[in-house]
Amino acid sequence: MSLLTVSDLSVAYARIQAVQGVSLEITPGSIVTVIGANGAGKTSLLNAIMGLLPAQGEVTFRGKSISRSPTEKRFSFGMSLVTESRDLFTTMSVRDNLILGANRCARREIDQRIGDVFGRFPRLRERRSQMAGTLSGGERQMLAMGRALMARPQLLMLDEPSLGLAPIIVREIFQIITVLRQNGVAILLVEQNARAALQVADYAYVMELGEVTMQGPASQLAGDSRVIESYLGFGGVDANQN
Ligand SMILES: Nc1ncnc2c1ncn2[C@@H]1O[C@H](COP(=O)(O)OP(=O)(O)O)[C@@H](O)[C@H]1O
Ligand SMILES: [Mg+2]
Repeated sequence: MSLLTVSDLSVAYARIQAVQGVSLEITPGSIVTVIGANGAGKTSLLNAIMGLLPAQGEVTFRGKSISRSPTEKRFSFGMSLVTESRDLFTTMSVRDNLILGANRCARREIDQRIGDVFGRFPRLRERRSQMAGTLSGGERQMLAMGRALMARPQLLMLDEPSLGLAPIIVREIFQIITVLRQNGVAILLVEQNARAALQVADYAYVMELGEVTMQGPASQLAGDSRVIESYLGFGGVDANQN
């Protein structure tokens, strides 16, 4: 059974074809990664899936076509996107940012969900009254993920969660991603950090110039000579190493 199916999706800006005929699939509770260089079209793909950008093609979520559904509808069906810019309310507290992520629910339910998020991200509990704008990069990413989780999504989409973070924080974030999967949340992970992404993912797609050029089980792609040469050749942060 497929949770999300994207068929032949294309996104064009005025003069640039950013995404060209991309198809992908995610089963419930799995981690799928899309890796690719800067400019490959990864962000455009995620934004189109979330309905933030007009696109051609078909997006099906939980068996229903959502290609014509506005973003709020997609959100209420159970998909959440943490954008590259994290989109936090910088002059509001950590706690209030979390409350804004709850999707129309009762006070007691909100408190319970905040408790769950603090359980996953103890650092956010310590900083619950602090303004979001004063958090470190890693804490901002945690808050953005926590806010997305407040809606209890079945699909969490993450756009470059490791961007700009120190290696030790990247490992922490990726560890949380695997725990979320164990709890049944499917994850669509877009990353330039191919090494870390391929370590946690079940299945992977490689995007180049708007198109999917390779796909397969993540462990298989991690051993593919073309992937090694283009994406794993140097540097990168290991998701598991301590
Ligand atoms: N708002 C925009 N207007 C015009 N071109 C854009 C816009 N956003 C992205 N692009 C272009 O679309 C292509 C894909 O960009 P993007 O989806 O951001 O890739 P990635 O996330 O893989 O770096 C790039 O050539 C980029 O310059
Ligand atoms: Mg991007």
